[in-house]
Amino acid sequence: NGMTGEQIRQGIIGQAERLVQEQLGGDSSGHDWWHMFRVARTARRIAEAEGADVFVCELAALLHDLADEKLVEDKEAGQRRIEAWLNEAGVSPGDTDHIMEIIRTVSYSGGHGVPMRTLEGRIVQDADRLDAIGAIGIGRTFAYGGAKGRLMHDPAQAPREAMTQEEYRSSGGTAINHFYEKLLKLKDLMNTDTGRALALERHRYMEGFLEQFYQEWEGESPMFR
Ligand code: ADP
Ligand code: NI
Repeated sequence: NGMTGEQIRQGIIGQAERLVQEQLGGDSSGHDWWHMFRVARTARRIAEAEGADVFVCELAALLHDLADEKLVEDKEAGQRRIEAWLNEAGVSPGDTDHIMEIIRTVSYSGGHGVPMRTLEGRIVQDADRLDAIGAIGIGRTFAYGGAKGRLMHDPAQAPREAMTQEEYRSSGGTAINHFYEKLLKLKDLMNTDTGRALALERHRYMEGFLEQFYQEWEGESPMFR
């Protein structure tokens, strides 16, 4: 038929969006449809700026948490379903392998420090990390803490410097502590120049937020000085 390559790729992206909306529409664990939507948009913008394969980045980003342990009982089975879906949708074997490699390694290497092999993988990882910081990251962190019934802040157990995972767990895991345990470290873990620049902007926004938060917590204001 008369479809161009670009139209075929757009069609596949649209199908993937509907698949993810169906599967994650009702999820509120932080891995909801709108997380995939934002990561895919950000991945596309970074891919354009970095001269990477935009289709692979956007499709991998849309599907990146679909086989996550928090969402499916069996991660390997979830990954096989995604691979079968990509074949069915007409994605080339080369792109399918590449996308599956990104999905398998993006959160794993996030936690284990193994670098992503390809530029497209580095971009999807950057986009996923960017969604954990900035205004969206602040919102997700408080939503997560609320869902777990945790305090947003506890001055008695809140060292303001970097904490280890162990110190964090024993601290009760307030939302504010999560900034020190993870969010403020993410800007130094970015892979691409574009991702790093975006992360710096969002990092500064979080620092401003924390400063204001502590001021309000103490009932302080420039008005009283
Ligand atoms: P992803 O797999 O997309 O990188 P996570 O599953 O690690 O994300 O977390 C989902 C969201 O919940 C993120 O915004 C993250 O910062 C937040 N979050 C994860 N763990 C905690 C925690 N212990 N306290 C507060 N927020 C958390
Ligand atoms: Ni994610």
